[in-house]
Amino acid sequence: MSAPEIITGDCRTEMSVRGPFDMVFADPPYGDTSLTWDRKVEGWIAVAVAALKPSGSMWVFGFMRFFIDQGGLFKAAGLRYAQDVVWEKHNGSSFHCDRFKRVHEHAVQFYRADTEWAAVWNEVQTTSDARSRVVRRKKRPAHTGDIGRGHYVSEDGGPRIERSVIYARSCHGRAIHPTEKPSGFVEKLIRTSCPPGGIVGDFFAGSGSAGEAAAMSGRRYVGCEIDPEMARAARDRLAGSLFVGCVGTTEKEGRAG
Ligand SMILES: C[S@@+](CC[C@H](N)C(=O)[O-])C[C@H]1O[C@@H](n2cnc3c(N)ncnc32)[C@H](O)[C@@H]1O
Repeated sequence: MSAPEIITGDCRTEMSVRGPFDMVFADPPYGDTSLTWDRKVEGWIAVAVAALKPSGSMWVFGFMRFFIDQGGLFKAAGLRYAQDVVWEKHNGSSFHCDRFKRVHEHAVQFYRADTEWAAVWNEVQTTSDARSRVVRRKKRPAHTGDIGRGHYVSEDGGPRIERSVIYARSCHGRAIHPTEKPSGFVEKLIRTSCPPGGIVGDFFAGSGSAGEAAAMSGRRYVGCEIDPEMARAARDRLAGSLFVGCVGTTEKEGRAG
């Protein structure tokens, strides 16, 4: 299996010729701060949709305000909302002293509107911490109505579906990028939405955290980063990652040791 790759350049041109991807990962600049790189990028969503396999889906990181501001663009580009998960940080950022201290971000999954959800590759992730005494089988509550698909079988004491709020320490103090995402969190998204051996396209690679996550889970990876220095740092990170050498082994072997 090929090693993870970081391209230097603008994702709108570079990634248009690199698909099709089993999964698109995008952590775009939110346009929330005065940092030089934090500028909204126009037009990337359409490029990402065109580069996505029909069975693929796209996970996008952002604050709620970003999705309220730009949510319509995803629909206009031919995407449907599938689900969202919350990354709960151990310590967050607060720009305003008159609001709650913000310790979370969202990751939203979209899929192509010309595809049925049932045709989208989706592997429900489970936790390994279930104990038999907390496993209960419940009837569907009346207020949920007839939802149809969604049957989930759990053995007593066996795995349970991963919760949609996931705690992960942020990378403060050891980050390469100021808004670096924890690769362990990103790995869960990749395992959910990219088949083993499939390829992840990361439109805003930053420090390459998604590349590390792809390697940890035995998926291929192409990332794009416009800042040449950051792209170099991401390449160095991936070259030094223990997991990158494991790409191409089975998932179990890849995580061993
Ligand atoms: C929020 S950060 C990504 C952080 C990354 N997920 C990580 O964990 O390190 C967004 C990145 O997108 C890059 N960027 C901005 N515009 C871009 C473009 N048009 N094409 C590719 N990268 C871009 C910025 O330089 C920045 O590093």
